[in-house]
Amino acid sequence: MSIPAAPTRSELKSRTFIGGIGVSIPEASIANDELVASYNAWAQSENLERAARGEAAVRESSSDFIVNASGIRNRHVYERDGILDPNRMAPRIPGRGDHELSVLAEFGLGAAKRALDDAGIDAAQLDLVICSNSHPQRPYPALAIEIQQALGSGGAAFDMGLGCSSALAALHVATNLVRAGAHQRILVVVPELVTSHLDFRDRQTHFIFGDAAVAFLVEGLGEKEERAGRFEIIGTSLWTQFSSNIRTNFGHLSRLAQDDPSVLHMEGNLIKQVGNKVFKEVTVAGHQFIVDFLAGYDHTPATMRRFWLHQANARMNAMILKLAFGEEVGADRAPTVLDRLGNTAAAGAIIALEENHRDMKSGEYGLLCAFGAGYSIGGALLRMM
Ligand code: COA
Repeated sequence: MSIPAAPTRSELKSRTFIGGIGVSIPEASIANDELVASYNAWAQSENLERAARGEAAVRESSSDFIVNASGIRNRHVYERDGILDPNRMAPRIPGRGDHELSVLAEFGLGAAKRALDDAGIDAAQLDLVICSNSHPQRPYPALAIEIQQALGSGGAAFDMGLGCSSALAALHVATNLVRAGAHQRILVVVPELVTSHLDFRDRQTHFIFGDAAVAFLVEGLGEKEERAGRFEIIGTSLWTQFSSNIRTNFGHLSRLAQDDPSVLHMEGNLIKQVGNKVFKEVTVAGHQFIVDFLAGYDHTPATMRRFWLHQANARMNAMILKLAFGEEVGADRAPTVLDRLGNTAAAGAIIALEENHRDMKSGEYGLLCAFGAGYSIGGALLRMM
Protein backbone atom coordinates (compact mmCIF):
# COMPACT_ATOMS: atom_id res chain seq x y z
CA MET A 1 0.00 0.00 0.00
CA SER A 2 1.32 3.46 -0.79
CA ILE A 3 -0.28 6.54 0.75
CA PRO A 4 0.68 9.82 -0.99
CA ALA A 5 3.14 11.78 1.15
CA ALA A 6 1.32 14.22 3.40
CA PRO A 7 2.23 17.89 2.97
CA THR A 8 3.85 19.42 6.05
CA ARG A 9 2.11 22.27 7.85
CA SER A 10 4.49 24.84 6.27
CA GLU A 11 3.82 23.51 2.75
CA LEU A 12 0.07 24.10 3.04
CA LYS A 13 -1.20 27.24 1.38
CA SER A 14 -3.98 27.72 3.91
CA ARG A 15 -5.80 26.05 6.75
CA THR A 16 -9.31 24.60 6.61
CA PHE A 17 -11.93 23.55 9.12
CA ILE A 18 -15.27 21.78 9.32
CA GLY A 19 -17.68 24.69 9.83
CA GLY A 20 -20.83 22.66 10.47
CA ILE A 21 -22.31 19.17 10.26
CA GLY A 22 -25.89 18.09 9.55
CA VAL A 23 -27.44 14.63 9.89
CA SER A 24 -30.83 13.45 8.70
CA ILE A 25 -31.98 10.03 9.83
CA PRO A 26 -35.38 8.83 8.59
CA GLU A 27 -37.93 8.12 11.28
CA ALA A 28 -39.03 4.68 10.03
CA SER A 29 -36.99 1.74 11.26
CA ILE A 30 -36.86 -2.03 10.87
CA ALA A 31 -35.52 -4.37 13.57
CA ASN A 32 -33.63 -7.56 12.69
CA ASP A 33 -36.53 -9.84 13.71
CA GLU A 34 -38.97 -8.07 11.36
CA LEU A 35 -36.53 -8.19 8.46
CA VAL A 36 -35.70 -11.86 9.05
CA ALA A 37 -39.40 -12.81 9.35
CA SER A 38 -40.13 -11.24 5.98
CA TYR A 39 -37.04 -12.83 4.35
CA ASN A 40 -37.93 -16.25 5.76
CA ALA A 41 -41.57 -15.95 4.60
CA TRP A 42 -40.25 -15.23 1.10
CA ALA A 43 -37.70 -18.08 1.35
CA GLN A 44 -40.40 -20.58 2.32
CA SER A 45 -42.62 -19.77 -0.65
CA GLU A 46 -39.56 -19.57 -2.96
CA ASN A 47 -38.47 -23.01 -1.77
CA LEU A 48 -41.84 -24.56 -2.69
CA GLU A 49 -41.28 -23.33 -6.25
CA ARG A 50 -37.64 -24.42 -6.24
CA ALA A 51 -38.59 -27.91 -4.97
CA ALA A 52 -41.13 -28.22 -7.80
CA ARG A 53 -38.34 -27.36 -10.28
CA GLY A 54 -35.90 -29.73 -8.55
CA GLU A 55 -33.61 -26.84 -7.53
CA ALA A 56 -31.65 -26.44 -4.29
CA ALA A 57 -33.44 -24.52 -1.53
CA VAL A 58 -32.35 -21.09 -0.28
CA ARG A 59 -31.40 -21.11 3.40
CA GLU A 60 -33.23 -19.04 6.01
CA SER A 61 -31.80 -15.92 7.61
CA SER A 62 -31.35 -15.47 11.35
CA SER A 63 -31.31 -12.49 13.73
CA ASP A 64 -28.69 -14.15 15.92
CA PHE A 65 -26.37 -14.50 12.93
CA ILE A 66 -26.87 -10.86 11.96
CA VAL A 67 -26.05 -9.49 15.44
CA ASN A 68 -23.09 -11.81 15.96
CA ALA A 69 -21.60 -11.36 12.48
CA SER A 70 -22.12 -7.62 12.10
CA GLY A 71 -23.30 -5.96 15.33
CA ILE A 72 -26.39 -4.60 13.51
CA ARG A 73 -29.67 -4.76 15.47
CA ASN A 74 -31.80 -2.25 13.63
CA ARG A 75 -31.78 0.07 10.61
CA HIS A 76 -33.63 3.26 9.70
CA VAL A 77 -35.17 3.39 6.25
CA TYR A 78 -36.37 6.22 4.02
CA GLU A 79 -39.54 4.23 3.20
CA ARG A 80 -40.69 1.15 5.10
CA ASP A 81 -43.69 0.41 2.92
CA GLY A 82 -42.95 -2.53 0.61
CA ILE A 83 -39.67 -3.71 2.16
CA LEU A 84 -41.29 -6.26 4.48
CA ASP A 85 -43.88 -7.47 1.96
CA PRO A 86 -42.59 -10.91 0.84
CA ASN A 87 -44.22 -10.32 -2.54
CA ARG A 88 -42.29 -7.07 -3.13
CA MET A 89 -39.24 -6.75 -0.84
CA ALA A 90 -38.32 -3.27 -2.02
CA PRO A 91 -39.38 0.15 -0.72
CA ARG A 92 -42.32 1.75 -2.50
CA ILE A 93 -41.17 5.23 -3.56
CA PRO A 94 -43.43 6.97 -6.09
CA GLY A 95 -41.77 8.58 -9.10
CA ARG A 96 -41.58 12.37 -9.33
CA GLY A 97 -42.02 14.69 -12.26
CA ASP A 98 -39.07 16.47 -13.86
CA HIS A 99 -40.15 19.75 -12.27
CA GLU A 100 -40.43 18.37 -8.75
CA LEU A 101 -37.55 18.13 -6.28
CA SER A 102 -36.08 14.65 -6.73
CA VAL A 103 -36.11 12.15 -3.89
CA LEU A 104 -32.36 12.17 -3.23
CA ALA A 105 -32.11 15.97 -3.50
CA GLU A 106 -34.87 16.31 -0.91
CA PHE A 107 -33.21 13.73 1.35
CA GLY A 108 -29.84 15.52 1.11
CA LEU A 109 -31.45 18.94 1.52
CA GLY A 110 -32.60 18.14 5.08
CA ALA A 111 -29.01 17.38 6.13
CA ALA A 112 -27.68 20.34 4.13
CA LYS A 113 -29.97 22.80 5.97
CA ARG A 114 -28.91 21.35 9.32
CA ALA A 115 -25.23 21.74 8.40
CA LEU A 116 -25.82 25.39 7.44
CA ASP A 117 -27.73 25.99 10.71
CA ASP A 118 -24.94 24.36 12.69
CA ALA A 119 -22.38 26.57 10.92
CA GLY A 120 -24.58 29.66 11.32
CA ILE A 121 -24.13 30.67 7.70
CA ASP A 122 -26.49 31.49 4.89
CA ALA A 123 -26.69 29.38 1.71
CA ALA A 124 -25.78 32.50 -0.29
CA GLN A 125 -22.32 32.37 1.31
CA LEU A 126 -21.52 29.00 -0.32
CA ASP A 127 -19.46 28.99 -3.49
CA LEU A 128 -19.52 25.24 -4.22
CA VAL A 129 -21.86 22.32 -3.47
CA ILE A 130 -20.55 18.78 -3.92
CA CYS A 131 -22.97 15.85 -3.76
CA SER A 132 -21.09 12.63 -3.11
CA ASN A 133 -22.70 9.26 -2.44
CA SER A 134 -22.51 5.57 -3.21
CA HIS A 135 -25.85 5.36 -5.08
CA PRO A 136 -26.45 8.42 -7.26
CA GLN A 137 -29.96 9.13 -8.48
CA ARG A 138 -29.05 9.74 -12.14
CA PRO A 139 -26.18 10.87 -14.37
CA TYR A 140 -27.53 14.40 -14.94
CA PRO A 141 -28.54 17.08 -14.19
CA ALA A 142 -26.21 16.81 -11.20
CA LEU A 143 -28.04 16.29 -7.93
CA ALA A 144 -25.69 18.88 -6.42
CA ILE A 145 -27.04 21.49 -8.84
CA GLU A 146 -30.58 20.63 -7.80
CA ILE A 147 -29.57 21.03 -4.14
CA GLN A 148 -27.74 24.28 -4.99
CA GLN A 149 -30.95 25.62 -6.54
CA ALA A 150 -33.16 24.44 -3.66
CA LEU A 151 -30.83 26.12 -1.15
CA GLY A 152 -30.50 29.28 -3.20
CA SER A 153 -26.71 29.22 -3.10
CA GLY A 154 -24.45 30.66 -5.76
CA GLY A 155 -21.23 29.42 -7.34
CA ALA A 156 -21.14 25.95 -8.84
CA ALA A 157 -22.07 22.37 -7.99
CA PHE A 158 -21.14 18.86 -9.11
CA ASP A 159 -21.62 15.21 -8.21
CA MET A 160 -18.99 12.64 -7.41
CA GLY A 161 -18.78 9.29 -5.68
CA LEU A 162 -16.44 6.64 -4.32
CA GLY A 163 -18.62 3.91 -2.78
CA CYS A 164 -18.71 4.04 0.99
CA SER A 165 -15.68 6.37 0.94
CA SER A 166 -17.73 9.03 -0.90
CA ALA A 167 -17.91 11.47 2.03
CA LEU A 168 -14.19 11.19 2.73
CA ALA A 169 -13.36 11.51 -0.98
CA ALA A 170 -15.44 14.70 -1.13
CA LEU A 171 -13.80 15.97 2.07
CA HIS A 172 -10.40 15.34 0.41
CA VAL A 173 -11.45 17.24 -2.74
CA ALA A 174 -13.13 20.09 -0.84
CA THR A 175 -10.25 20.56 1.59
CA ASN A 176 -7.74 20.80 -1.22
CA LEU A 177 -9.91 23.14 -3.32
CA VAL A 178 -10.15 25.51 -0.37
CA ARG A 179 -6.43 25.18 0.35
CA ALA A 180 -5.61 25.94 -3.28
CA GLY A 181 -7.74 29.09 -3.06
CA ALA A 182 -10.22 27.88 -5.71
CA HIS A 183 -13.20 28.09 -3.29
CA GLN A 184 -13.85 29.62 0.12
CA ARG A 185 -16.81 27.68 1.48
CA ILE A 186 -17.88 24.27 0.20
CA LEU A 187 -20.93 22.28 1.23
CA VAL A 188 -20.62 18.50 0.86
CA VAL A 189 -23.94 16.61 0.81
CA VAL A 190 -24.12 12.83 1.16
CA PRO A 191 -27.63 11.39 0.70
CA GLU A 192 -27.47 7.59 1.11
CA LEU A 193 -30.73 5.89 0.17
CA VAL A 194 -29.12 2.46 0.04
CA THR A 195 -32.33 0.47 0.51
CA SER A 196 -33.33 1.59 -3.00
CA HIS A 197 -30.51 -0.52 -4.41
CA LEU A 198 -30.50 -3.39 -1.93
CA ASP A 199 -31.59 -6.94 -2.78
CA PHE A 200 -33.80 -7.86 0.17
CA ARG A 201 -33.93 -11.42 -1.27
CA ASP A 202 -30.17 -11.87 -0.86
CA ARG A 203 -29.48 -13.55 2.50
CA GLN A 204 -25.84 -12.32 2.45
CA THR A 205 -26.69 -8.63 2.19
CA HIS A 206 -30.39 -8.09 3.08
CA PHE A 207 -29.61 -7.06 6.68
CA ILE A 208 -26.62 -4.80 6.12
CA PHE A 209 -27.77 -1.38 4.97
CA GLY A 210 -29.88 1.49 6.24
CA ASP A 211 -30.62 4.99 4.92
CA ALA A 212 -29.29 8.35 6.16
CA ALA A 213 -28.15 11.67 4.74
CA VAL A 214 -25.34 13.86 6.05
CA ALA A 215 -23.78 17.16 5.04
CA PHE A 216 -20.81 19.21 6.19
CA LEU A 217 -19.08 22.48 5.41
CA VAL A 218 -15.43 22.88 4.55
CA GLU A 219 -14.20 26.43 5.06
CA GLY A 220 -10.94 28.36 4.99
CA LEU A 221 -9.27 29.37 8.25
CA GLY A 222 -6.89 32.27 8.85
CA GLU A 223 -3.24 31.63 9.68
CA LYS A 224 -3.64 32.04 13.46
CA GLU A 225 -7.42 31.70 13.64
CA GLU A 226 -9.00 29.24 16.09
CA ARG A 227 -12.72 28.34 16.12
CA ALA A 228 -13.57 26.83 19.50
CA GLY A 229 -15.59 23.63 19.25
CA ARG A 230 -14.78 23.10 15.56
CA PHE A 231 -12.33 20.75 13.90
CA GLU A 232 -9.33 21.96 11.95
CA ILE A 233 -8.71 19.59 9.04
CA ILE A 234 -5.03 18.77 9.42
CA GLY A 235 -4.87 16.44 6.44
CA THR A 236 -6.84 14.09 4.20
CA SER A 237 -5.91 11.13 2.03
CA LEU A 238 -7.41 8.45 -0.23
CA TRP A 239 -6.35 4.95 -1.22
CA THR A 240 -7.95 2.70 -3.85
CA GLN A 241 -7.32 -0.77 -5.24
CA PHE A 242 -9.65 -2.52 -7.68
CA SER A 243 -11.84 -5.31 -6.34
CA SER A 244 -15.06 -6.93 -7.60
CA ASN A 245 -15.95 -8.16 -4.13
CA ILE A 246 -18.48 -5.36 -3.61
CA ARG A 247 -20.23 -4.15 -6.71
CA THR A 248 -23.40 -3.10 -8.44
CA ASN A 249 -23.71 -3.55 -12.19
CA PHE A 250 -26.65 -1.20 -12.55
CA GLY A 251 -26.25 1.45 -15.22
CA HIS A 252 -27.53 2.53 -18.60
CA LEU A 253 -25.81 -0.41 -20.32
CA SER A 254 -27.72 -2.91 -18.16
CA ARG A 255 -30.81 -2.95 -20.39
CA LEU A 256 -28.76 -3.48 -23.57
CA ALA A 257 -27.52 -6.84 -22.34
CA GLN A 258 -31.14 -8.10 -22.38
CA ASP A 259 -33.15 -9.51 -25.27
CA ASP A 260 -35.82 -6.88 -24.69
CA PRO A 261 -34.12 -3.54 -23.92
CA SER A 262 -37.47 -1.90 -23.16
CA VAL A 263 -37.82 -3.79 -19.85
CA LEU A 264 -35.10 -3.52 -17.21
CA HIS A 265 -34.70 -6.63 -15.04
CA MET A 266 -32.79 -5.89 -11.85
CA GLU A 267 -31.54 -9.48 -11.46
CA GLY A 268 -27.75 -9.16 -11.06
CA ASN A 269 -27.96 -5.36 -11.05
CA LEU A 270 -28.39 -4.76 -7.32
CA ILE A 271 -25.69 -4.59 -4.61
CA LYS A 272 -23.73 -7.79 -4.18
CA GLN A 273 -20.69 -8.58 -2.12
CA VAL A 274 -18.46 -11.43 -1.03
CA GLY A 275 -18.70 -10.28 2.56
CA ASN A 276 -16.05 -12.48 4.16
CA LYS A 277 -13.42 -11.53 1.54
CA VAL A 278 -14.27 -7.84 1.96
CA PHE A 279 -14.01 -8.28 5.71
CA LYS A 280 -10.53 -9.84 5.60
CA GLU A 281 -9.02 -7.70 2.85
CA VAL A 282 -10.37 -4.35 4.01
CA THR A 283 -9.49 -5.04 7.66
CA VAL A 284 -5.84 -5.51 6.68
CA ALA A 285 -5.81 -2.54 4.25
CA GLY A 286 -7.74 -0.31 6.69
CA HIS A 287 -5.37 -0.93 9.55
CA GLN A 288 -2.33 -0.29 7.32
CA PHE A 289 -3.90 2.88 5.92
CA ILE A 290 -4.53 4.25 9.42
CA VAL A 291 -0.99 3.58 10.63
CA ASP A 292 0.67 4.98 7.46
CA PHE A 293 -1.61 8.00 7.16
CA LEU A 294 -1.11 9.05 10.78
CA ALA A 295 2.66 8.49 10.52
CA GLY A 296 2.68 11.07 7.69
CA TYR A 297 1.65 13.64 10.32
CA ASP A 298 3.95 12.30 13.09
CA HIS A 299 0.96 10.73 14.81
CA THR A 300 0.13 7.19 15.86
CA PRO A 301 -3.20 5.55 16.78
CA ALA A 302 -2.25 6.20 20.42
CA THR A 303 -2.29 9.99 19.90
CA MET A 304 -5.91 9.88 18.67
CA ARG A 305 -8.54 10.78 21.24
CA ARG A 306 -11.23 9.34 18.99
CA PHE A 307 -11.80 7.22 15.89
CA TRP A 308 -14.89 7.74 13.76
CA LEU A 309 -14.65 4.66 11.59
CA HIS A 310 -16.80 3.43 8.72
CA GLN A 311 -19.95 1.89 10.15
CA ALA A 312 -20.21 -1.43 8.29
CA ASN A 313 -19.33 -4.08 10.82
CA ALA A 314 -18.58 -3.80 14.55
CA ARG A 315 -16.26 -6.83 14.53
CA MET A 316 -14.30 -5.39 11.60
CA ASN A 317 -13.76 -2.05 13.37
CA ALA A 318 -12.75 -3.82 16.59
CA MET A 319 -10.21 -5.89 14.64
CA ILE A 320 -8.75 -2.87 12.80
CA LEU A 321 -8.26 -1.09 16.12
CA LYS A 322 -6.86 -4.18 17.83
CA LEU A 323 -4.27 -4.48 15.06
CA ALA A 324 -3.43 -0.78 15.52
CA PHE A 325 -3.28 -0.79 19.36
CA GLY A 326 -2.48 -4.41 20.20
CA GLU A 327 -5.49 -4.41 22.55
CA GLU A 328 -9.26 -3.92 22.57
CA VAL A 329 -10.42 -0.31 22.18
CA GLY A 330 -13.64 0.74 23.91
CA ALA A 331 -16.73 2.54 22.63
CA ASP A 332 -15.63 5.91 24.05
CA ARG A 333 -12.52 5.86 21.84
CA ALA A 334 -14.29 4.36 18.80
CA PRO A 335 -18.04 5.01 18.95
CA THR A 336 -20.51 2.81 17.06
CA VAL A 337 -23.79 3.85 15.45
CA LEU A 338 -24.29 0.85 13.16
CA ASP A 339 -26.04 -1.17 15.89
CA ARG A 340 -29.11 1.06 15.62
CA LEU A 341 -28.67 2.47 12.06
CA GLY A 342 -27.13 -0.40 10.06
CA ASN A 343 -24.49 0.39 7.47
CA THR A 344 -25.46 3.81 6.12
CA ALA A 345 -22.69 3.66 3.48
CA ALA A 346 -20.76 6.96 3.20
CA ALA A 347 -22.93 8.63 5.85
CA GLY A 348 -21.97 6.32 8.75
CA ALA A 349 -18.59 7.71 9.84
CA ILE A 350 -19.92 11.30 9.63
CA ILE A 351 -22.89 10.37 11.86
CA ALA A 352 -20.44 8.85 14.37
CA LEU A 353 -18.46 12.14 14.22
CA GLU A 354 -21.52 14.36 14.63
CA GLU A 355 -22.79 12.39 17.62
CA ASN A 356 -19.45 12.01 19.37
CA HIS A 357 -17.29 15.14 19.46
CA ARG A 358 -18.82 17.68 21.83
CA ASP A 359 -16.87 16.34 24.82
CA MET A 360 -13.49 16.68 23.09
CA LYS A 361 -11.00 19.16 24.50
CA SER A 362 -9.10 21.78 22.54
CA GLY A 363 -5.93 20.28 21.09
CA GLU A 364 -7.23 16.70 20.96
CA TYR A 365 -6.99 14.79 17.68
CA GLY A 366 -9.35 12.36 16.00
CA LEU A 367 -9.32 10.21 12.90
CA LEU A 368 -12.22 9.99 10.48
CA CYS A 369 -11.83 6.92 8.25
CA ALA A 370 -14.22 5.21 5.85
CA PHE A 371 -13.73 2.18 3.64
CA GLY A 372 -15.71 0.19 1.10
CA ALA A 373 -16.38 -0.53 -2.52
CA GLY A 374 -13.59 0.02 -5.01
CA TYR A 375 -11.83 -0.99 -2.74
CA SER A 376 -11.46 2.50 -1.38
CA ILE A 377 -10.32 4.04 1.89
CA GLY A 378 -10.47 7.70 2.85
CA GLY A 379 -9.04 9.33 5.95
CA ALA A 380 -9.00 12.75 7.61
CA LEU A 381 -6.95 13.84 10.60
CA LEU A 382 -8.91 16.37 12.66
CA ARG A 383 -7.81 18.62 15.55
CA MET A 384 -10.35 20.06 17.96
CA MET A 385 -9.69 23.82 18.15
N1 COA B 1 -28.44 -15.64 8.27
C1 COA B 1 -27.90 -16.79 8.72
N2 COA B 1 -26.73 -17.29 8.27
C2 COA B 1 -26.09 -16.58 7.31
C3 COA B 1 -26.60 -15.37 6.79
C4 COA B 1 -27.83 -14.90 7.31
N3 COA B 1 -28.38 -13.76 6.89
N4 COA B 1 -25.75 -14.90 5.86
C5 COA B 1 -24.74 -15.78 5.78
N5 COA B 1 -24.96 -16.81 6.65
C6 COA B 1 -24.10 -17.99 6.87
C7 COA B 1 -23.36 -18.40 5.63
O1 COA B 1 -24.13 -19.19 4.79
C8 COA B 1 -22.19 -19.18 6.24
O2 COA B 1 -22.64 -20.45 6.62
P1 COA B 1 -22.00 -21.79 5.93
O3 COA B 1 -20.56 -21.74 6.31
O4 COA B 1 -22.78 -22.88 6.55
O5 COA B 1 -22.23 -21.60 4.47
C9 COA B 1 -21.92 -18.43 7.55
O6 COA B 1 -23.10 -17.70 7.83
C10 COA B 1 -20.74 -17.49 7.46
O7 COA B 1 -20.91 -16.68 6.28
P2 COA B 1 -19.92 -15.50 5.96
O8 COA B 1 -20.36 -14.85 4.70
O9 COA B 1 -18.50 -16.03 6.03
O10 COA B 1 -20.22 -14.55 7.20
P3 COA B 1 -19.32 -13.43 7.86
O11 COA B 1 -18.96 -13.85 9.22
O12 COA B 1 -18.21 -12.98 6.96
O13 COA B 1 -20.37 -12.22 8.00
C11 COA B 1 -20.88 -10.17 6.84
C12 COA B 1 -20.99 -11.69 6.86
C13 COA B 1 -21.48 -9.64 5.57
C14 COA B 1 -21.60 -9.61 8.06
C15 COA B 1 -19.38 -9.77 6.94
O14 COA B 1 -18.64 -10.54 6.02
C16 COA B 1 -19.12 -8.32 6.64
O15 COA B 1 -19.65 -7.45 7.30
N6 COA B 1 -18.21 -8.07 5.71
C17 COA B 1 -17.71 -6.74 5.42
C18 COA B 1 -18.77 -5.97 4.70
C19 COA B 1 -18.31 -4.60 4.37
O16 COA B 1 -17.59 -3.96 5.08
N7 COA B 1 -18.76 -4.16 3.28
C20 COA B 1 -18.42 -2.86 2.87
C21 COA B 1 -19.64 -2.30 2.35
S1 COA B 1 -19.61 -0.64 2.67
